[in-house]
Amino acid sequence: MTKDQFTDHDRRDFLRIAASSTAFVALAASPLAAALAQPAGGAPLKIGMIGSGREGGALGSAFVKAGHQVMFSSRHPEQLKGLVDGLGPRAQAGTVDQAIAFGDVVAIVVPYTAMEEIGKEHAAALARKALVLDVSNPIARRDGEELAKWVEQQGGAGLATAKLLPGAHIVRAFNAINYTKLSEDAHRPGDPIGVPIAGDDQNAMAIASNLIRQIGFEPVLVGGLAMGKYLVPGTPLSGEHSPAEIRQIVASLH
Ligand SMILES: NC(=O)c1ccc[n+]([C@@H]2O[C@H](COP(=O)([O-])OP(=O)(O)OC[C@H]3O[C@@H](n4cnc5c(N)ncnc54)[C@H](OP(=O)(O)O)[C@@H]3O)[C@@H](O)[C@H]2O)c1
Repeated sequence: MTKDQFTDHDRRDFLRIAASSTAFVALAASPLAAALAQPAGGAPLKIGMIGSGREGGALGSAFVKAGHQVMFSSRHPEQLKGLVDGLGPRAQAGTVDQAIAFGDVVAIVVPYTAMEEIGKEHAAALARKALVLDVSNPIARRDGEELAKWVEQQGGAGLATAKLLPGAHIVRAFNAINYTKLSEDAHRPGDPIGVPIAGDDQNAMAIASNLIRQIGFEPVLVGGLAMGKYLVPGTPLSGEHSPAEIRQIVASLH
């Protein structure tokens, strides 16, 4: 399904989320936002996690703590009981299909080898989401030289994901922040940790930015999906940097 084939229901969802995110941009800057129990800027989002391992578990937990409803998924959802029980009523476990159906927003946090299969089975459903957060990385030593080479030939991780998930509103984010740092560095006093993000869809970027602020980091736009090739471990942007440092590094990449 292409963007032009959205149903009226899809469009209404899209507009609701877009309106909520626009309002949040202003509100998130105020100290009041941090004090609010529910996510600032309107209704909590429903977020489906594809991949609930180390990084997906930590990121989804952060979304729950920020007031969102999260469905964590696994091919063995019964194994997520401990995780969701510990997070309370805003967290639940399901299959990958269920998490995709559940989410206004979907985060994909899987070994990159799984991305092709996810695209084949779910690209149409993912294209109807306002945001697909792509946290997954192609890593040659884990995913194989052949896959890493294919990704490079597509122009890097962002454009490769776009090819595997046609029509999806993809934003790459959190790709090189270690899962242990997500809770350690959230809402750090003083200068926040920046999260470099890359994407081509303005609405998706706004939603991703709001989510990043809500969980205690500062989004830093580094460019379109083509810049996603720098949002992987092992580049100068990987690891923890302040927003100013990220901007400086990005300038040196051009
Ligand atoms: N670890 C980090 O600190 C970190 C930081 C930034 C980015 N990342 C990236 O995030 C991704 C996940 O890393 P991780 O360390 O969280 O890995 P992990 O702990 O091994 O978790 C992998 C998750 O992916 C799911 N999965 C695997 N194949 C799948 C498939 N075909 N369909 C649906 N789900 C599938 C697994 O679910 P099942 O329960 O079904 O097996 C599991 O929940 C990688 O691309 C990694 O590079 C990791």
